[in-house]
Amino acid sequence: MSALNRHQVDREPKTQQAISLPQEACALVVNGEPYNLSVPTETSLMHVLRNDLVLNGPKYGCGLGQCGACTVLIDGVAARACVVPAHGVQGRAITTLEGLGTRDQQHPVQLAFIEEQAAQCGYCLNGMILMTVSLLAQNPDPTESEIRHALSGNFCRCGTHVEIIRAVKRAAVLMQAHREQSHDKR
Ligand code: FES
Ligand code: FES
Repeated sequence: MSALNRHQVDREPKTQQAISLPQEACALVVNGEPYNLSVPTETSLMHVLRNDLVLNGPKYGCGLGQCGACTVLIDGVAARACVVPAHGVQGRAITTLEGLGTRDQQHPVQLAFIEEQAAQCGYCLNGMILMTVSLLAQNPDPTESEIRHALSGNFCRCGTHVEIIRAVKRAAVLMQAHREQSHDKR
């Protein structure tokens, strides 16, 4: 059995059930795991992740690419899964919140958000956390104005902005410590 076949989705995808459109094969790599699916051509990545792969990290907010709730990483860069066609990202490395860390071993950005208690309802957190991972990969020591700019398209209806900005600053510190630890182990 090939690696791809190992994750063949053999039940009828929910996307397929809901929309009676011609199906097309779609091979995705999500959180390091390969999946073979069959979905309508224009199906968004968010619908495939949530409905077919049961990955509920990406949240459905506006569905228009304007709120950031559905953010994922594509090749390490933040993208809005509600406006990305699943077929367009075949073979790319897709990371959802589920692929960052575990309950026992959180990613430094997740840890920073927990330590700063940067959440109320939590609906925006998927986008805030993945946007922060993407930001810190490009700019490991951002200023407050760079953080505000990077997160300006991610909406928090609960008004948790002050704690979220604090969490991003803490995440930058934790990521730096994490890099130093990894370097020392070599
Ligand atoms: S749900 Fe994708 S940006 Fe709002
Ligand atoms: S914590 Fe509720 S939307 Fe941000």
